[in-house]
Amino acid sequence: SPSDPDLVARARAAKEKLGDKVFILGHHYQRDEVIEFADVTGDSFKLAKDAAARPEAEYIVFCGVHFMAESADILTSDDQKVVLPDLAAGCSMADMATAEQVAECWDVLTEAGVADVTVPVSYMNSSADIKAFTGKHGGTICTSSNAERALEWAFQQGEKILFLPDQHLGRNTAVRDMGMSLDDCVLYNPHKPNGGLTVEQLRNAKMILWRGHCSVHGRFSVDSVNDVRARIPGVNVLVHPECKHEVVAAADYVGSTEYIIKALEAAPAGSKWAIGTELNLVRRLANRFAAQDKEVVFLDKTVCFCSTMNRIDLPHLVWTLESLAEGNLVNEIRVDKETESFAKLALERMLALP
Ligand code: 13P
Ligand code: SF4
Repeated sequence: SPSDPDLVARARAAKEKLGDKVFILGHHYQRDEVIEFADVTGDSFKLAKDAAARPEAEYIVFCGVHFMAESADILTSDDQKVVLPDLAAGCSMADMATAEQVAECWDVLTEAGVADVTVPVSYMNSSADIKAFTGKHGGTICTSSNAERALEWAFQQGEKILFLPDQHLGRNTAVRDMGMSLDDCVLYNPHKPNGGLTVEQLRNAKMILWRGHCSVHGRFSVDSVNDVRARIPGVNVLVHPECKHEVVAAADYVGSTEYIIKALEAAPAGSKWAIGTELNLVRRLANRFAAQDKEVVFLDKTVCFCSTMNRIDLPHLVWTLESLAEGNLVNEIRVDKETESFAKLALERMLALP
């Protein structure tokens, strides 16, 4: 639906008043009405780098979810303020691994005698506490665009990987990109004693996958893939690696949001694409590429927004920008010093990946 013209005008005026003092980042899953005001858009990897590359901006307004704003705070200087327009914009996957649970898991690995040879690799979609745990134990962060390189790096440091918190990105990268077998992976369930695993399973596993997932990408099924292939002959199926392993195995291409956009940009006119990721992005791509005679459809028949990404809307953005323009710092995201130092170590290892 079209944006309220009054709110559009207010957002423009507040942004203009702030000038170079504000830099607005927009994740690809954001609503159109928000993306319109973003100075840059990107996947979580690109946005982390973009935030770090703007030392002159006093305010970084992060239109995305909480863990992205935390990462931006970690990577920017102390006097830069990172602002999340709605503090309730979390990520249910990131919430699936708490600091207490992960500390307990490390105790389980220690008791099994495998902690010394295990390297944690944590998906960007995790809290600053989990990133700090990762940094403290010699591990790295990864995103969906560098997971393979992160795993390769980690296997040079140790024999096993504890992959947090998205089991699907971990499994898909290990099996699809690195040729491991499904049997090389075990699933650690934080709600069960010892993660629901025996000591032998922990000793034999190459990948210990945390039992987390994204409920948005979890909606795509092999049936969605089969249906779209039947409906649209010749369709290319392209999905995000947060989808289940069987969906990824049934797809033609797999990649991050940034990869998806690049693949469509490079696709020939007349080609047809079914995309398995969040709906705001897919709709925007469908509109954009229709003009170039590329047909882009959503992989599933049901609607599939990320509800927390969608919490950032034009009214929240206007409120944020007007508050900042009046000198009121609102919704600041701030990671404490100790957490920040270890989390930064893990993020910097990611940024240094070849
Ligand atoms: P990207 O790293 O591909 O932007 O994905 C982030 C995310 O939250 C996907 O659900
Ligand atoms: Fe989190 Fe999934 Fe939303 Fe991405 S799409 S922010 S992983 S809930």
